[in-house]
Amino acid sequence: MSERIFIGVAWPYANGSLHLGQIAGAYLPADIFARYHRTKRNEVLMVSGSDQHGTPVTLRAEKEGRSPGEVVAHYHQEFLDCWEKLGISFDLFTATGTRNHAQVVHDIFLTLLNKGYIYKDKMVLPYCPSCRRFLPDRYVEGTCPYCGNPKARGDQCDECGKPLNPVDLIDLSCGICRSTPELRDSEHFFLRLSAFAERLKPWVQEQSHWRQNARNFTIGYLAEGLRDRAITRDIEWGITVPVPGFEEKRIYVWFEAVIGYLSASKEWAESCGESERWRHFWQGDVKSYYFIGKDNIIFHTLIWPAMLLGYDGLNLPYDVPANEFLTLRGKQLSTSRNWAVWLPDYLQRYHPDALRYILSINMPETNDADFSWQEFVRRNNDELVATYGNLVHRVLTIAYRNFDGRVPAASEVDAESKTLLRKAEATLHTVDSLLYGCHFREAMREAMALAQEANRYLDSKAPWKAIKEDRDSAATAISTALGVICSLKTVLYPFLPFSSEKLHRLLGFEGSVEEAGWAMSVPAAGQRLSSPEPLFAKLDDQVVDEENSRLEQSVLTPG
Ligand code: MF3
Ligand code: ZN
Repeated sequence: MSERIFIGVAWPYANGSLHLGQIAGAYLPADIFARYHRTKRNEVLMVSGSDQHGTPVTLRAEKEGRSPGEVVAHYHQEFLDCWEKLGISFDLFTATGTRNHAQVVHDIFLTLLNKGYIYKDKMVLPYCPSCRRFLPDRYVEGTCPYCGNPKARGDQCDECGKPLNPVDLIDLSCGICRSTPELRDSEHFFLRLSAFAERLKPWVQEQSHWRQNARNFTIGYLAEGLRDRAITRDIEWGITVPVPGFEEKRIYVWFEAVIGYLSASKEWAESCGESERWRHFWQGDVKSYYFIGKDNIIFHTLIWPAMLLGYDGLNLPYDVPANEFLTLRGKQLSTSRNWAVWLPDYLQRYHPDALRYILSINMPETNDADFSWQEFVRRNNDELVATYGNLVHRVLTIAYRNFDGRVPAASEVDAESKTLLRKAEATLHTVDSLLYGCHFREAMREAMALAQEANRYLDSKAPWKAIKEDRDSAATAISTALGVICSLKTVLYPFLPFSSEKLHRLLGFEGSVEEAGWAMSVPAAGQRLSSPEPLFAKLDDQVVDEENSRLEQSVLTPG
């Protein structure tokens, strides 16, 4: 029976280009998962969008001397372009700046307000006398009360990952002019998170299928007590507060960004011409997955669930597969120091599947993982090209040249060939269950192990020699190898969609890999093959030096 799978992916701030850390952290695993489920003929809705509000955007705009609207429009377009080139197959990638989003946010805000889950209260806020303004969270710096990090910001500590309120910080300073802010009263709305603690505790405990990192972090956070949080701010850029007297304030970016999952689903339904269809992915027997980086865990395991509980009638997350971080040559990525590999740069120069490969085989699932250009080139050449690409090319070329451009018929399938075919069948099942459980790295390793096995088989059968002495045995070897390649095409499709589609056509199939489904569909004897072309290209070792000097150059000129 077909399953329903909702996939929400973290909404990237539209204040800068995407980097490889974000791709490895959320977008790639989400896309692998979506493609896998579609191939399994399950119903998938995958949405996200540009997070266009909040101080990350206004800070950037101030720095560039542009309006926030210009900044977000620019990066939204760039994101769309990147998804297309990298093959991140969203059903909808929208933005928090739409009218629809504001309407859905207002509906949730007012519903929670009416139910008493949102209330008005005075709040003490840092006000900078020299800048003459209330300081938004990110503009305030100080020492984290939990871990002592002296560089914590007013919204969150990047060292221990705890969300913060500005007044929690010790030794406040204004992030703009460095003077010491005074604390002033201001009226704001609060989300009554404390009202949900007793329901969230047992719920989180039950989620034994969650990854350790997300579950333990959430349990630890709950143990410290879930406190109410202010969800409005003294700023101009953002979604208005639907209550008279609050015209000068805006809804806090995190409160509205998570609502994006729902508003995007409604927008998607609208665009299908079935405005109620979003319910299909929010109510009833649906599993909702939220793919995020580990810095966003609490918002998805506690705050969004609390909002959903308060609103009532919509599904809570089923899983929140949060990845760890990707480091770059052993160091933490830093957008401010420009220590990052930017996705648009990558896509200008290299194959999307090469990146998808290296980020999958070394995905930061249970530990941080490192990216370096040296490893990139090595893995591209020694693994993607040598193990998989060459296997495919050898088999297709022999078949094409010696069997009249068609799949040869196997006469008698010997034991060695049977073993390999059984291994291919088994890999299809193993990768299936690994992907089902969001174990992407392991799944990729299983798939590559099959390619290695097929190489050994081919070396042992040496059909290029056998063809002269024993045409029948060469035909069996080639037909077997074609069958295995066909399974590789399927199991690797979620990871390497461009090359799998290409291989699908080279094997003489019509339609898409997704349409062919998750099955061992050995090409029939006599099927016409297309003229062989290599799937991947070897990269010159020079790439390592070139890219490393680019990286070092860019650190000297921070953005
Ligand atoms: N924009 C946030 C970030 O880049 C993520 C928002 S995720 C959402 O860290 F759930 F709020 F959408
Ligand atoms: Zn100041």
